[in-house]
Amino acid sequence: MSGPPGAGPAGPSPDALAAAALALARAGRVVVFTGAGVSAESGVPTFRGPDGLWKTCKPEDLATPVAFGRDPRLVWEWYGWRRAMVGRCRPNPAHLALAQWMLSRPGVTLVSQNVDDLHERAALATAGGAEAARRAAPVRLHGSLFHDHCTRCTYRAEARGAVDASSLAALPHCPECGGLLRPDVVWFGEVLPAPAVEAAFAAAREAEACLVIGTTGAVYPAAAVVHTAKAAGATVVVVDPGETEYDGLADVKLVGQAGAIVPLILF
Ligand code: OAD
Repeated sequence: MSGPPGAGPAGPSPDALAAAALALARAGRVVVFTGAGVSAESGVPTFRGPDGLWKTCKPEDLATPVAFGRDPRLVWEWYGWRRAMVGRCRPNPAHLALAQWMLSRPGVTLVSQNVDDLHERAALATAGGAEAARRAAPVRLHGSLFHDHCTRCTYRAEARGAVDASSLAALPHCPECGGLLRPDVVWFGEVLPAPAVEAAFAAAREAEACLVIGTTGAVYPAAAVVHTAKAAGATVVVVDPGETEYDGLADVKLVGQAGAIVPLILF
């Protein structure tokens, strides 16, 4: 069979797990890049799998600035549903193992495309305090489901309550200027937050190892973090039960679920 070690149909071999663990333990600097799959075992739907969100919902109706301008009530209804659903999910062993690992060793930057806050909640649960949890917090490339920002002024705040999308007037509005609030997530066609992009790519350029978990690697510019790390000489370890855009560049592909595999390779 061709392909990187560990890509066999029976799941990761002990040799592949050991190779991944060694590469991650030896690296002075590691960039971890996560996508929706790291949260799948927590009950958060992915985007592109058979049960993925984009199979039943159209991004152009729900996740673009044009869609929000056309029908903010519909967009808020969807984000309110996701906020409530994801708010009931809990970090799984992959989130928790990553948080413990980051708190126990220096040199790891966690970069996530996820908006579900489960890395942050794992860090809080593991660190036992907000100050320490910051050391295990992710660089968020695509924003957060649990923040809003104003469409008119610079107001931005955490938002965890239920969303009333029954009418335009009931939608969340800015307490400072009265403008319409929107979810603080990056939509298709929008620019990613510059400080997050800078931090993610700086970490990728310096990485000696890159751990990729649960992402198809299909959405740019985020997906380029892994290509940047590879070009800088990093050993790339991919954990995913399916095919990804990174399979051709992975040094080790561990086929399986994040919650089962990630705790086995972080020491
Ligand atoms: P995708 O839905 O494209 O990919 C999810 C990946 O997770 C797939 O490769 C699955 O095989 C894998 N997967 C499923 N279950 C898993 C498990 N238990 N453990 C590990 N992996 C598992 O999601 P992303 O790659 O994250 O963008 O999508 C990237 C971006 O596209 C998202 O951030 C979002 C979306 O449109 C925005 O919202 C801007």
